[in-house]
Amino acid sequence: MARGRFITFEGGEGTGKSTLIAGLVPALRDRGISVVVTREPGGTPLAEKIRELALNPPDDHEWSPLAHALLMNAAREDHLVRQIRPALDRGLWVLCDRFADSSRAYQSTQGVSMSVLKQFERAVVGDTTPDLTLILDAAPEDLAARRMARDITDVFEAKGMEFHQNIRNAFLAIAKDEPNRCTVISALQPVEDVLANALTAIDALGAQ
Ligand code: TMP
Repeated sequence: MARGRFITFEGGEGTGKSTLIAGLVPALRDRGISVVVTREPGGTPLAEKIRELALNPPDDHEWSPLAHALLMNAAREDHLVRQIRPALDRGLWVLCDRFADSSRAYQSTQGVSMSVLKQFERAVVGDTTPDLTLILDAAPEDLAARRMARDITDVFEAKGMEFHQNIRNAFLAIAKDEPNRCTVISALQPVEDVLANALTAIDALGAQ
């Protein structure tokens, strides 16, 4: 049985990762590919518990950036061991909404050094690096305008633009460092065009 493909989806808040994944599932199934959709932090019962603890700590409590990085990696270890690697071994394609690049982008922006983050990544991810990472990219101010026009208000607006700009820059730097793995797709295009761009990158992967 050939190993499945591991595809991760990255980008700032509100870039449309979930919409893209929802569009890709039927398109890949039409190609005869069996897919598993999952997310980080989360994807297993234990990792989902960690997600809750990491993203919604009890009132008046806040994780330090390093503790946050450790929680993300603890969740990731469980996810890899119980869900991602077994699925890939069974020949399934794994579509994962966020993965280790989110730790690089978010936890480095919060102050954890990239060398520490990469050490964690090596220990946890090991050889299970994504075959393809699709990075949905847009200027945060354009996304905010788009979301405001659609009457969406959430924590995205609560955080400063500088934070979102730093996250965007961090993802673009990852794409520049690892162009063979990463494809940057403009998130401001119509949904069908985002999907078409993603399928082009995925089809190129199949040909490798
Ligand atoms: P989302 O799945 O709704 O985008 O939210 C997940 C949040 O968790 C998002 O703000 C990014 C953050 N996150 C990290 O800070 N580090 C990580 O390693 C991952 C996977 C997510």
